[in-house]
Amino acid sequence: MAFTVAIDGPAAAGKGTISRAIANRFGFEYLDTGLLYRATGAKVAAGMAPLEAASSLTPEDLARGDLRTAEAGQAASRVAAMADVREALVAFQRDFARRGTGAVLDGRDIGTVICPGAEVKLFVTASDTVRADRRWRELADPSLTRDAVLEDLRARDRRDRERAAAPLRPAQDAVVLDTSQMDIDAAVSAAAARITAALG
Ligand code: CDP
Ligand code: CDP
Repeated sequence: MAFTVAIDGPAAAGKGTISRAIANRFGFEYLDTGLLYRATGAKVAAGMAPLEAASSLTPEDLARGDLRTAEAGQAASRVAAMADVREALVAFQRDFARRGTGAVLDGRDIGTVICPGAEVKLFVTASDTVRADRRWRELADPSLTRDAVLEDLRARDRRDRERAAAPLRPAQDAVVLDTSQMDIDAAVSAAAARITAALG
């Protein structure tokens, strides 16, 4: 039986960083589900219909180099509000969750919709100013101000929280991990402790 770790939360909370470290430490597979929406958004920006874009994703689409930009994030959150796009991506994510001895999936609706039976559910968050600061440093784009990154994250979080289809919210049984005051090592340790406890 595969062990599933669901990691959800708002933009730039540290979900991916924690997920990769957890996957390494426990030998689990890792899926960044945000990439599915970013790649779909990029294909829509290039003129494809949303449902067709989501239904035809290839490994090459997911490997594009331009999916981490703020524009790609906004395009992702627009297609992510479409129920038919989300539905088209469910089977791939659920199949992935059954891979190997265990899998970590990070996104917005893993604990609530994709893997409601996940053995560990974490909702990773931090204040919006801390998250914006982290993303601003990460992007290291001299044309971007800290305030512009903050506005971008706020707009995306609002759209993700207020949509009808699989809105961003912690699952009832999720453990909330506020990393505002935690460095990466502290956040990874806190997440790993939950997994070690659940593995028994
Ligand atoms: O996946 P998500 O968008 O939630 O966040 P991420 O890409 O893992 O992290 C965003 C940035 O914050 C990265 O540059 C991380 O190195 C950094 N980070 C941090 O400084 N402190 C943490 N506790 C977690 C992440
Ligand atoms: O790394 P960051 O948290 O900034 O974004 P991401 O995880 O790559 O997700 C990009 C966008 O995809 C989010 O703002 C959501 O609109 C959407 N998304 C979603 O709706 N459901 C998921 N499971 C993952 C991402």
